[in-house]
Order: sequence, then structure tokens, then C-alpha cells
Amino acid sequence: MTSTSDSVQDHYAVNNLGQSILDTLKSIGKDINALTPTDLAPVDAFHLRGRESTIELARQVRLDSERHVLDVGSGIGGSARYLASEFGCRVTGLDLTQDYSDVATMLSGLTGLGDSTTFQQGSALEIPFDSETFDVVWTEHAQMNISDKETFYSEIARVLKPGGLLAFHDIFRGESESVDFPVPWAGDPSISFLAPLGEVEQILRNNGLHPRHWDDVTQKSVEWFRKMAANARTQGPSPLSLRLVMGDDIAAKIQNFARNLERGSIAAVLAVLEKME
Ligand SMILES: C[S@@+](CC[C@H](N)C(=O)[O-])C[C@H]1O[C@@H](n2cnc3c(N)ncnc32)[C@H](O)[C@@H]1O
Repeated sequence: MTSTSDSVQDHYAVNNLGQSILDTLKSIGKDINALTPTDLAPVDAFHLRGRESTIELARQVRLDSERHVLDVGSGIGGSARYLASEFGCRVTGLDLTQDYSDVATMLSGLTGLGDSTTFQQGSALEIPFDSETFDVVWTEHAQMNISDKETFYSEIARVLKPGGLLAFHDIFRGESESVDFPVPWAGDPSISFLAPLGEVEQILRNNGLHPRHWDDVTQKSVEWFRKMAANARTQGPSPLSLRLVMGDDIAAKIQNFARNLERGSIAAVLAVLEKME
């Protein structure tokens, strides 16, 4: 029988992803020996509102060159590179999908961030680091693939130093039960685990994580989808986009994501919580 973890990796893995990204960058005239994190932003921010929401979340967190950040579900490393290049902090990325960690490492090397960002394959449910290691745990759009929310948040709380911050941008179950698939994180309901916000808030409290910033960004995200659709109609599709990561059914995934948000089946929250000393 296939485990959930295998199905999640199958969902995300894309053949030759690294090479397709490099080929596309070359085809639009980028010098791949002089790449910046900004050049990669159209393809490496695999979450609502792309780099815009990463910047928004980072503004709520105290980051500088002394800080060590763990990005849980780091994908191909876009946020890790943004944080390291913008704030000089060290970022360790952990992701279940081996191909993503490999591509993340390759892209960090090409942007000169190979020392400040490192990536490894592993599960958020068994974080392979000692307790109280990190100043900040950062996570965007990964917990929807994880049914055991209790272990997810308790592992995060364990590896945070006392006084450390959890910064997340995530999707939760909304008022209405029905969710249309496919969506970017799942082709069908078998690997999608959307928890009601109230349940997650209780788990966070139980793990000593107390809100410092809490923003329901559902409506902002709906408006962003509308703006993206209008841009696509006037400008046409861009070669360097999440299509390379999400595959050929990207249109259905995006339409369902937008529709689910619009009718309240899912909600998006951007939050920062502090681990009490
Ligand atoms: C939608 S992508 C988001 C990637 C990245 N956070 C970003 O915003 O660009 C979700 C990521 O979560 C990872 N993921 C899912 N379940 C995981 C788990 N149990 N442990 C670690 N990573 C996981 C997937 O492999 C995938 O890379």
C-alpha cells in the first residue's frame, strides 16, 4: 500500500525540474551564472500571492545575521533565499520531496547563497534537529498535506528556542465543507488535510505558542487571483511561472484554489506566534 508520504512526494515530484527551470531562464535571456533570488521569484514561491506574501510575513519577524531559521516544507527554496539575501540570516530548509531539496540546493548555489541556505530531505513530523535549535520556524503551505496537526506543531515548538517565533502562511478549512479538486497541494482529497482554524488555534496554545500577529488573508488572496487572471488575459502566459512546478493541470488547480477561497470552503491565514519562555 502506498503511504501518504509517498503519495505527497509523487504529487510534487516533476521530472527534470531543475533543468527545465534553467532552460527557461536561458530562453528569456537570463545569464544563469549571474542569477539573483528576484530572477527566480516567478517560479520558486509556491504559495498564495507569491513573493508579496513572503515579504509581508518577513516584516512581522525579527530577522538579522544572528538568526537561524528553519523553513519547514521549503519547496525549491524561494523563501529561504529571500530571507537569507534580505536579512543575512542562515536558513535551513526541510522538505519531504527529495527532488525539491536538490533543486533548491542547485538554485541557491547559482544565486551565491549556497553557504547561507542549506536544504535537506526529511519529514516535518520527525524534524531531524535537536530541541531549541532555531530562532524562527517558518512554514508556508505545507501543513495541508499533513493529517497529524498535533505532531506537526509540537515538532515545530520543540525545535524553537524559548522566545523564538513560528511564522506561518497557511490554508485551513473554511465554513463550507465542499472543496473542489485538483488544487496545487493535492490532486484529490486523499492527501489534503484541512483543519478548522479553531482546532489549530487550540493545538498552538497547547504547545505554548502564543499569537503576536494574526491576519486572515483570504480576501486579499481572492483579489490577487482576480488580478492574476486579468494580467494573463492581457499579457498572455509567462514562460517562467509555476507551470514548471505545478504541471499541465495548473489551470484547473488555480481555478479551484480561487473558487474554494471565494466561496469560503478554505481560508488563508498569515501569522506569527511566540514560544513562551
Ligand atoms: C505547496 S509546496 C510549498 C513550498 C514552499 N513552502 C513554498 O511556499 O514555496 C508544499 C511543500 O510541502 C512539502 N511537504 C508536504 N508534506 C511534508 C512533510 N510531511 N514534511 C516536510 N515537507 C512536506 C512538499 O514536499 C512541498 O514541497
